Amino acid sequence: MKAIRLHAKGGVEQIVYEEAPVPDLLEGDALVRVLASGITANELNWEPTYVDEKGNSRLPAIPGHELCGIVEKISHGTTGIAVGDHVYGLTSFFRNGTAAEYVAVEARSLAPQPLTLNAVQAASIPLAALTAWQALFEHGGLLPGQKVLIHGAAGGVASLAVQIARWRGANVIGTSDAESIDLVKSLGAHQVINYRSEQFEKVVSEVDLVLDSIGGETQDRSWQVLKRGGILVSIAGESIKQPPAAWGVRGIFFIVKSNRLQLMEIARLIDRGHLSPVVGAIIPLAEARKAFEKIYQPGKKGKIVLQVSE
Ligand SMILES: NC(=O)c1ccc[n+]([C@@H]2O[C@H](COP(=O)([O-])OP(=O)(O)OC[C@H]3O[C@@H](n4cnc5c(N)ncnc54)[C@H](OP(=O)(O)O)[C@@H]3O)[C@@H](O)[C@H]2O)c1
Repeated sequence: MKAIRLHAKGGVEQIVYEEAPVPDLLEGDALVRVLASGITANELNWEPTYVDEKGNSRLPAIPGHELCGIVEKISHGTTGIAVGDHVYGLTSFFRNGTAAEYVAVEARSLAPQPLTLNAVQAASIPLAALTAWQALFEHGGLLPGQKVLIHGAAGGVASLAVQIARWRGANVIGTSDAESIDLVKSLGAHQVINYRSEQFEKVVSEVDLVLDSIGGETQDRSWQVLKRGGILVSIAGESIKQPPAAWGVRGIFFIVKSNRLQLMEIARLIDRGHLSPVVGAIIPLAEARKAFEKIYQPGKKGKIVLQVSE
């Protein structure tokens, strides 16, 4: 099969488009013919991109962890999907990924593709939407009527988080650059702050939940906008430094996990018109280097998706 592979740890320069063996299945796996694959900012820096769960090198490694495709084969112990099903899902970060014509993936990480999306749109959803869902509800405990500040609101994860938080009935504030303000408003944000010209902490306060996909000084400045009892949920970097207890706020960092029931719920929201994909660019698998370079260019909106097959 054709695939993108990394033969050494590094960045975009390590990406090679080449022949690779079709993966073998483990118990509970499905072999999926990939139609399209989402890619994510910084994934070439993640440790699991290069090692298995025991920490052993798994080079050459295939990146990409979200897909839309067709089930080609299933192994013993597989439940809930069948050969020929059109599926979407999030694959393990510790195994070869979805930037390839075929991927072996735990079947429980897959769900039926949303009916109203094409393959490219569906492939833009799983990692980003599951991250947004788990950040807002599992970790942030977001309730209707609460105030949520979502940083980088035109980004892959945050553009879906804005829509999901609005659907939940929250008061949604986003930060973005000037060019993305209209987009973020159209996704449902009540207020959008241009992070390049305004300091969000001067105009926002008494926030119940901050969703931080940026980290660094954006995170440091975010504690002060939380009300007492508020929470900052971070997906940026690898961990979080807790603020002083006297501030009465707390932070949590987490790594998204696949979840079939949540993928099904997300597909329902999409098919009922509550949630729309934001696809910034569609790039053929053979030009994956260009796609990974594009991820770091300012002004990108939503997800970059690799088109693997028509
Ligand atoms: N922990 C997890 O489970 C998990 C899951 C998914 C993703 N992630 C990580 O989360 C991060 C975001 O992922 P993503 O796919 O959403 O990335 P993305 O699509 O690149 O989105 C980031 C957005 O933030 C904006 N931005 C940059 N600096 C900003 C600032 N100072 N204030 C406000 N907005 C700013 C960018 O816009 P500009 O055009 O203005 O630069 C961009 O729209 C990445 O580091 C990714 O690796 C973690």
